[in-house]
Amino acid sequence: MTTSDPTSFSAEEYFATQPPPPTLEHDISGVRDFVARQAKEGRKVVLVTSGGTTVPLELNVVRFLDNFSAGTRGATSAEYFLKAGYAVIFMHRQFSLQPYSRHYSHSTNPFLDFLEIEPSADGTISPPAICVTRNMRQDLLEVLTAYKSVHAAETLHTMTFVTVNDYLWLLRAVTQELCVLGKKSMYYLAAAVSDFFLPRQKMSEHKIQSGKGSLHIEMDQVPKILKPMVVEWTKGEGFIVSFKLETDGQLLVPKARAALDRYGHQVVIGNDLHRRKFEVVFVSRKSLPPLPPGVEPEPLPEQELEDPISTTFVETWIRIPVPTSSPNPATNQVKEIEEDIVAELVRRHERWVEEAR
Ligand code: PMT
Repeated sequence: MTTSDPTSFSAEEYFATQPPPPTLEHDISGVRDFVARQAKEGRKVVLVTSGGTTVPLELNVVRFLDNFSAGTRGATSAEYFLKAGYAVIFMHRQFSLQPYSRHYSHSTNPFLDFLEIEPSADGTISPPAICVTRNMRQDLLEVLTAYKSVHAAETLHTMTFVTVNDYLWLLRAVTQELCVLGKKSMYYLAAAVSDFFLPRQKMSEHKIQSGKGSLHIEMDQVPKILKPMVVEWTKGEGFIVSFKLETDGQLLVPKARAALDRYGHQVVIGNDLHRRKFEVVFVSRKSLPPLPPGVEPEPLPEQELEDPISTTFVETWIRIPVPTSSPNPATNQVKEIEEDIVAELVRRHERWVEEAR
């Protein structure tokens, strides 16, 4: 395999040929300090990745391909992890949703709509006072209280990526910092990561001109990083949860099983694009006696990945009622599936740590 082969980049080749983002060192020193503080406090730490990565088509970028994700899954889950006592490294796509502020997203619940200018007693607005509309106060108070207490406790560390290259470099570097916590670390990979990219060496320097007819681009495959993440970066010590997004629900379980079989991590959460807010499936291996050190599990035969009553894998569905109307922005009181996803993961992580003892 060489870098001139258009379809195959190993993770090692990728990092040897693609440049790191300029702020990597600075970003990682922030993570190092954060992890050291949490280690001192004895907290578990979860890395939450969130939002979609882009693939720029030019070095002076005007055009890029994007991956679908608003960041809802990641931002919402981060809040529930914080509530459960975890410290959170929230690695998200720049300008995608973030914990707490997500409740007041400019497009679905713009905050200016529930602020009022309070007239003074004599009917003038001098000096002007701004207050929150009465029916929004309780909800805002709850969100603000949680937000302030997380800030005071310094248990949330945020960092951003834009391109798939930023994402891969950051993921590797953050993982290498977090792995000092061993089994107390969790990796919750909810970001929607590009499968194809243009190596820097093949990119046009300037804006691609449109006067030459149709555009043909050959992209290389982004290396699958879960395997090195499990085996090398975390040395098998981290509790790793990946997501599988499909639009054909029938593919969810077999694809999730295949990912577990290939990468050897702990859980794949399958979600169907249109049902993801009220239904997900946890796929994991049934407990097996540990293999001797250095022995890799045999790859499974194809039919085991499809078998409805598998002897190797177990599926757990999490469902919440499908909302019948859109949430009331004044109360924001809807059940969120991330509450149950995180509760289940916290239980499993705890059990995993206990079993290791
Ligand atoms: O933010 P929302 O709008 O709420 O949407 C949430 C979501 C649907 C995006 C989220 O729940 C989700 O499914 N995220 C993962 C989507 C995705 O990238 O799936 P995938 O099939 O491309 O990748 C599967 C897994 O492999 C991912 O966990 C990824 O971290 C990992 N991967 C991906 C690419 C790559 N080169 N190496 C990897 O290891």
